[in-house]
Amino acid sequence: MRILGISDHIISGAAVLEDGKVIAAVNEERLVRRKMVMGFPRKSIQKVLELAKVRPDQIDCVAIASKRGHFLNDYVEFEAGTFGISRGLVKGLFMSLGSGLSFLRNDVPILEKLYYELREPAYAHRRNATKKVLREEFDIVAPVEFIEHHFAHACSAFYSSGYRDALVATMDASGDGSSSHMYQVKNGRWELLHRVASFDSLASYYAYVTHICGFKAGKHEGKITGLAAYGKDSYRDIIERFVCYRDGTVINQGKLFYKSALKKMREALPLDFSKKDLAATIQLIAEEITTKYIRHWLERTQEHNVGLAGGLFANVKINQRVHEIPGVQSVFVHPAMSDEGLAVGASLALNYLKSPDPSTLESRCFDHVYLGPDYSESYVQRMLAAEGINYQRHSQVEEEIARLIADGYVVARFAGRMEYGPRALGNRSILYRPDDPSVNDWLNKNLKRTEFMPFAPSTIAEDADRYFLGLDGARETARYMTITFDCTEQMRKECPGVVHVDNTARPQLVSERDNPSYYRIIKAFRKLTGRSSIINTSFNIHEEPIVCTPEDALRAFKIGHLDYLALGSFVAEHPQVQSREREPVRNVSI
Ligand SMILES: [Fe+2]
Repeated sequence: MRILGISDHIISGAAVLEDGKVIAAVNEERLVRRKMVMGFPRKSIQKVLELAKVRPDQIDCVAIASKRGHFLNDYVEFEAGTFGISRGLVKGLFMSLGSGLSFLRNDVPILEKLYYELREPAYAHRRNATKKVLREEFDIVAPVEFIEHHFAHACSAFYSSGYRDALVATMDASGDGSSSHMYQVKNGRWELLHRVASFDSLASYYAYVTHICGFKAGKHEGKITGLAAYGKDSYRDIIERFVCYRDGTVINQGKLFYKSALKKMREALPLDFSKKDLAATIQLIAEEITTKYIRHWLERTQEHNVGLAGGLFANVKINQRVHEIPGVQSVFVHPAMSDEGLAVGASLALNYLKSPDPSTLESRCFDHVYLGPDYSESYVQRMLAAEGINYQRHSQVEEEIARLIADGYVVARFAGRMEYGPRALGNRSILYRPDDPSVNDWLNKNLKRTEFMPFAPSTIAEDADRYFLGLDGARETARYMTITFDCTEQMRKECPGVVHVDNTARPQLVSERDNPSYYRIIKAFRKLTGRSSIINTSFNIHEEPIVCTPEDALRAFKIGHLDYLALGSFVAEHPQVQSREREPVRNVSI
């Protein structure tokens, strides 16, 4: 059975699922070069059909993520969706009314029902418009099903985990009226155990703090996670008045949301509040609430495996804390944990709903996440020639890249199929030596980024225990850079450029099976330097999505002043290689 999965809101995208296996997945932002763009993903649909080599009449059914939502025919910038600030008159009015009356929500339960029911005509319009576009623009006449938002998240986590039985937790700001679902999956059968309403969203409170600290809510929460390591939880008594854990659920104690929450939180904080302390406070509180919540349901179900998805689990430190809950044997975070994973999640959910017989389930819905577009060597060569770029072809390009990194150069690598999900995992990555503690400052400056998280390491999977503590039960999820670990003394000594101030790192464990060519680069680097990790940061420049095409790569390479660009087996030197002093990486084994 072939299912086309579609998500049409934040970081919209499409995927093709064939007999339970994801064979293509891409998000619209990469194709239209607008980060986290919202809107009906026409280009993604076209691209995944092309990648999967599937004709429209070969699609058996279509799964659209989320039951509620407005039809976005044109692209909408992500910022416009934040807190309803400028979402258009009607949507903005609903958000403002909801925010203003939120204090009444628990006493007058009909208000929430009304909030959604009054919007039902817009949801009906989306259902009709979606079918019309699929029929008229894509010739897709297969039946269309709309899948509940959190069930789509949950399916993305479970079917990529390889678990047979698990507790599956989803947590995000909001989707279809919920901010969390808790499921038990037993022998492939799903049971919804608990639901937390959007009103009680922990992730929303994290977003409010992100906004109050001067960053973009819903987009820059990772900066708060990084900043938290520099601060103390000095505002605990204030934040705990707003959001807390109680009796197996999350409670919006402040009875606020969106604008009213921002206003009251800002008023409760001192005028000269410390950003790093506020970041530390929300981070620690979020870790505590999440772990208490999941622990409660683990004890109830006696499950030992935990699957996670939803935007809150983009927080790599929270994921580490979930892994550390006593009794958790294994944790797995879907690689595209936020809404960019919903197209895949919806297709998996529909696959389950169509054939819930567990004997038909595949063990994992994909073996790796290199599920996006790729470009032939001849295409790349033509582009380089047309752009007048000097390049050299290397029969053993992996060894050449390793040599350049070991000599102290920054190498931007573009190879094979683009990664699905928010992380560059070697095919659209900027690579650098791991032993330079100053790299965070100057490379981020070159890339026009402000980051408080250090760069992440790609580490040879079989050497990972030399560098990280407590890997057992999280090695699978660490293939996708979704979780932090405490670092060993050896890691701090050999790779200080990728260890955070709190002594953690969020690695990508690279095996030969996952990405043979990328694995060869790190192995060759180890041969030259004795180190089993390199720095891997996403190949993009300031606020742009990760590069998709060779043309995007060349543009980012030029603007970012990176030293070398490796496109497949071609390596080009930047015309103005910087004057920064370089010295080869010292070999630790000498
Ligand atoms: Fe979501």
